[in-house]
Amino acid sequence: MRDMKVAVLGFGAMGRARNVAYPNVAKYYGDSPINPVITQGFVLEREADAARKLGWDVNLDMMDTIQNDKSEYVDICLPNALHYSAALAAIEAKKHVFCEKPLAISVDEAREMTEAAEAVPGLLNSVNFIYRRCPANVFARQIVQENWFGKLLEARSYYNQSWGGPNTGFGWRFDVKAGGGTLGDLGSHAIDMLYFVTGMRPSEVVATQVTHVKERMGNVTKSDGSVVREPIPNEVDDGTRVVYNLPNGGIGSLECTRNAWGTENTQGYEFYFENGAIRWSYDEVNYLEVYDPSVRGRGWRRVLCNQGGFAYCHFAGGHMDGYRDFLTSACYENMRAIEGMDPIAPIATFRDAYEVERTIEAIRRSHRERRWVKLDEIK
Ligand SMILES: NC(=O)c1ccc[n+]([C@@H]2O[C@H](COP(=O)([O-])OP(=O)(O)OC[C@H]3O[C@@H](n4cnc5c(N)ncnc54)[C@H](O)[C@@H]3O)[C@@H](O)[C@H]2O)c1
Repeated sequence: MRDMKVAVLGFGAMGRARNVAYPNVAKYYGDSPINPVITQGFVLEREADAARKLGWDVNLDMMDTIQNDKSEYVDICLPNALHYSAALAAIEAKKHVFCEKPLAISVDEAREMTEAAEAVPGLLNSVNFIYRRCPANVFARQIVQENWFGKLLEARSYYNQSWGGPNTGFGWRFDVKAGGGTLGDLGSHAIDMLYFVTGMRPSEVVATQVTHVKERMGNVTKSDGSVVREPIPNEVDDGTRVVYNLPNGGIGSLECTRNAWGTENTQGYEFYFENGAIRWSYDEVNYLEVYDPSVRGRGWRRVLCNQGGFAYCHFAGGHMDGYRDFLTSACYENMRAIEGMDPIAPIATFRDAYEVERTIEAIRRSHRERRWVKLDEIK
């Protein structure tokens, strides 16, 4: 197992989560071909002391962090609008790239990033659609791949949170230019999960989006350098609803919002096939529910997927997994991919994430133009 130098860009929720994930790769997975070691981090000045306390070699210059020789792998944990310039610079510097989702803030940027990454053979281009690392979702994918239940007829996906009320202040997730909005933030996961589990992407969509809170209080820097707190227009979608057709003749729906009071962070899906169904909820993250009408005594079976024989069971079976474990498994899959090993479950490549962006663009266009939009329209 060789060490590999990792630069993490960003010291927010996701950047800090890397402090848990990378050091645990070799601890969870003794067969990891690489031991990733965080050797440098790009942070904002106000975060520097906290980052140093965690042992980071802090750099306040993003481009220098990407380009200097203190890393061979760059992990982008920045607001969405910064993914584009960071990823292109990392690719140019011939570094492996792990990028947070959504890949970009537009389909054009996502396409350019994908083409740039694919033009350099041997470089990792991986996107953190982390729920691919949840054993229950890998089992769901296996059920579809093994064709337990036939054709997918109807799909329902949701990803809802509750922190978007009027008293929540302005931040980059409410800033159109930074790539804010629920669809990219939450809906992107649901779009990727539909594909990961069922292998299907919508062929056409019709959608509506809403901005419930038109202004939010935030810090504004004035021309004299002073900072005042005042209302800032909120132009992102606070909620999105989508109905779609599938290429196999099936249909589906997707919802995402930050205004689901009491729903801290819940996502899930229900996939109904010709001869059975599966459903999953983040609230019961280690279980997949399976409905097989051919089993005597009908009913949903609740299958514990955190046990021997299921994906990513790195510890004693039944000792439950959570978000930190999924992130560690995502980093482990990246190490396997760099060494050319087959994935336990496929990583989300830039191309996969570009396909998500195509769906997002179709949804936005449908809302803007008040019509069905075919995915073929989006390049
Ligand atoms: N895969 C997942 O499950 C998951 C979960 C949460 C967030 N994310 C993604 O991770 C990325 C980062 O999200 P987060 O929750 O860590 O965000 P955050 O706001 O907590 O942190 C963002 C960090 O980016 C850095 N930064 C650099 N320039 C900045 C600027 N101009 N404004 C603000 N921050 C700046 C700072 O270090 C900051 O702490 C986003 O792309 C988000 O969509 C993914």
